[in-house]
Amino acid sequence: MSVKGFIFDLDGVITDTAEYHFEAWQNLAKNYDITIDREFNEQLKGISRMDSLDRILNHGGRETDFTEAQKEEMASEKNGEYVKLIEKMTPEHILPGVLDFLNELKEHNYLLGLASASKNGPVILERLNLSGYFDTIVDPSLLAKGKPDPEIFLTAAHQLGVKPEECVGIEDASAGIEAINKAKMFSVGVGDKESMKEADYRLDSTEGLVLDVILNKVK
Ligand code: BG6
Ligand code: MG
Repeated sequence: MSVKGFIFDLDGVITDTAEYHFEAWQNLAKNYDITIDREFNEQLKGISRMDSLDRILNHGGRETDFTEAQKEEMASEKNGEYVKLIEKMTPEHILPGVLDFLNELKEHNYLLGLASASKNGPVILERLNLSGYFDTIVDPSLLAKGKPDPEIFLTAAHQLGVKPEECVGIEDASAGIEAINKAKMFSVGVGDKESMKEADYRLDSTEGLVLDVILNKVK
């Protein structure tokens, strides 16, 4: 396969905002007497804001306790805290190896896409000074289905004008790896063996994002 595009997840791949999401959800959940730990948090990675809230309420046995309007209010409360956390971000918050990798991809004229479920994605890229690297950003509010559905990755490939089979997708969420695999792209997973078990190629950390190494795995 000849690779033409690289499609990135954002939270947990480009920057460590997965940690901020966890912190903000944990605080919100606490207000409603629900405890969430890191193991449970794995299930929230890659999942939209409202679906994450539903999973948390289910986890606490409180799925029928709130109206839709109350849930909207809770989700916007969580987002308010999250937005405060990301306001302090600078390019120093780019994960190790990511900037070198992006530069390497640009030097070799690969097309770059962002396939993040986050509505805060464009703001975060701005704060990291990375907006200029991406040829396209998928708007998650226009999609019918979230990860693990492949729609977001297929949309990114379409917006880049390349075939899905010509793309490599990079994710830290098991739902994201499933989406990449269903899109028939080559999946690169950053994370532990258990959550990345479906990835075509797994890395312990973003420091392993090196173009030659990945292209050798794709062959
Ligand atoms: C994903 C994160 O990238 O974006 C999820 O992995 C998050 O944890 C989702 O819930 C939606 O983000 P936001 O910023 O729109 O609430
Ligand atoms: Mg992620």
